[in-house]
Amino acid sequence: MEREADSVVDMPKLSEDGAVYRNDRGVIAENYYDLQGLAVLDGIRAQHPLPTASSASLARSLFQSVEIALLNLNDLIERASVDLHQGNLDGAVVKLFWAKGFHRLVNQLGLLPARLNGALGSSAARGVLKLSDSPAFQTYLTTLRLFDAEVIAAIEDGRIDAHGVIAERSLESAPYNFLHLLRVCNQEAMSWEASLATVQVDATVGSYSDFVVSSSIRDCVYERVLQGDTYFTQFRGLHQIPETLGDEANDRCEAAILDIRRGDLASALERLQTVVTLIDTMTAAVPPMADHLSTTDYHAIRENLGLTSGSHSVGLHYHMFNDLYQQLSAEIAGLLGDGDAGEAAFAERIAEVRRQRFAQPRAWLIHQLIDEALKMQALIFHWRSSHLHLPRNNLGGDMTKSLTGSPEAIKAVRHMMVSARNKDPMKALARGRGLSGSAAGTPVATPLTHYVESAESLDRVLLARTGEATQARFEDVQKRLGFFANRCPFRAPPRRMAGATVPAAE
Ligand code: HEM
Repeated sequence: MEREADSVVDMPKLSEDGAVYRNDRGVIAENYYDLQGLAVLDGIRAQHPLPTASSASLARSLFQSVEIALLNLNDLIERASVDLHQGNLDGAVVKLFWAKGFHRLVNQLGLLPARLNGALGSSAARGVLKLSDSPAFQTYLTTLRLFDAEVIAAIEDGRIDAHGVIAERSLESAPYNFLHLLRVCNQEAMSWEASLATVQVDATVGSYSDFVVSSSIRDCVYERVLQGDTYFTQFRGLHQIPETLGDEANDRCEAAILDIRRGDLASALERLQTVVTLIDTMTAAVPPMADHLSTTDYHAIRENLGLTSGSHSVGLHYHMFNDLYQQLSAEIAGLLGDGDAGEAAFAERIAEVRRQRFAQPRAWLIHQLIDEALKMQALIFHWRSSHLHLPRNNLGGDMTKSLTGSPEAIKAVRHMMVSARNKDPMKALARGRGLSGSAAGTPVATPLTHYVESAESLDRVLLARTGEATQARFEDVQKRLGFFANRCPFRAPPRRMAGATVPAAE
């Protein structure tokens, strides 16, 4: 499939005179790249280059993701404090729900030093990154102390009956949720603090801040904020983290493709194991938003998202889900023969590699590469399926348009998933391994899905009500009026071809 080769960096502006569109909350985004502050992340890579797909770049993307999450946690705790001050315990509980989501994500990030030990460093590693040197961590600790003091004061002066609430109430109660979430968040925090306390990295580390470029990460998080009590910063943070991890995964996937081309299967395997782990962690960034972004909280920021969509993510939608995925798949298929022999013969080669795996080192490597490719396939489809929560919860059904004008947002996302499945180049690999169901692109009976999607289900009613609420609030989006009468300026980037741009990997 050919793609129009326009640069995303030179995307056409909506207003030729450079005027910025605004509403009373703030700027209305021109495009996804601006909305998510991706120029700051690209700027870091350009101004502070590190060897591509190296221990250093991996450690930096890990700690940059940690910084983004900790700045978000800080923001949430500060705002919960304001709520508490104003006697708005309900508002504070919402912040703590979000905080729990971010803590869980930091814990997934915290597993990376152990999961990626081989790629990150070793006992002979040259440098160490210490979480306690992180400016975001220090800010969070200071904010937490202030917040705790406020809550303790509220308990002592009887505004919060900690004993009664803990002894007698459950999840139906806001005060119970408040105290319960605080206990959960603190345990989560101690857990990630331990796993990120010191991380070895095979690079020279001057200072944490210089290495991570933490001041720019702070800019990335705060360069665009909205007026009012919104979850816009968290919305952006949960795009910025997957974009950061995705960049590193993509560089490593490209390097793995090049390794296979030059016959270095062992190196390709090591790189792909890292790619898979990074995608797994990226996927962990979906639940914090799926679980906590309510329809109204999304509606509060929706207009400021402008004519944008995650499908304009060059790193994720284009490079990871399409370009590199296809090239990797082709290289792995190439290891199994020329591919013209038909699916049965292909499956037999996969089976033969499996039979020979303990006897022949090359068969072992190919067998393992297939494993990693299929994990990658499963995780990307799992990401897609988890991402469906977002248009379902926040936009709804019944012909609710997306910001970019897709006639029915949920269908657009589903269609992207179905079409990816139909043309999935890893399908034959999955079938050859005996994987059934969606991973293999084989139609399977799904009576539950059939029911949930049918006109008789409650889900259908809920999606319709959600859609009604969205359409009523966003007539402009629905009828393509005002700002949304503009044509979406996004143009697809050129295809990323392995070996075309990226310098030699370490
Ligand atoms: C409230 C939150 C979200 C909503 C309502 C939403 C909605 C959508 C919609 C409607 C599409 C289909 C394209 C279109 O019609 O514009 C889409 C695609 C996409 N979105 Fe989201 N999204 C949300 C959050 C996210 C997040 C957090 C990410 C993470 C980076 C993301 C990444 C993507 C990607 C990569 C695609 C392309 C899907 C594919 O390649 O299969 N979205 N989204």
